Amino acid sequence: AWDAERASEIVSEHLHLEGATLPILHALQERFGYVHEDAVPMIADALNMSRAEVFGCVSFYHDFKRQPPSARHELKLCRAEACQAMGSTKLHREVLERLGCDWHESAADGSCSVEPVYCLGLCSNAPAALIDNEPLARITADSIQAALAEAGR
Ligand code: FES
Repeated sequence: AWDAERASEIVSEHLHLEGATLPILHALQERFGYVHEDAVPMIADALNMSRAEVFGCVSFYHDFKRQPPSARHELKLCRAEACQAMGSTKLHREVLERLGCDWHESAADGSCSVEPVYCLGLCSNAPAALIDNEPLARITADSIQAALAEAGR
């Protein structure tokens, strides 16, 4: 999801580059999957350009997306007791961090949406999850990542 604070850090990290606009736009798109409209005034102020110039740049290059990518898969993570007892709370934090999003949001790269569920009936194989309704048992951050890669784009 768009994070203004992180975005302004990304802008600052690239300010020293010559012709910083394109590297900044690429970095923002890489991090968030698209260039949020708020990035335009942010970049314009930082580089002393007009908003129209920055906007022109975003719209000229067709590889910049101006809308968040829609999620390709649906990831549901179980937040109920048996999974919690197996460390799901910490695990979910790591998964969300890797995906660059929060609950009810889509991963930064558009790979999946993330929703909580409360018991999948897989308690003896906790922590559990679903990807596109396929059950995943004894998940780790790595196994989720692998399952999403396998599910493909
Ligand atoms: Fe997670 Fe039952 S508590 S599957």
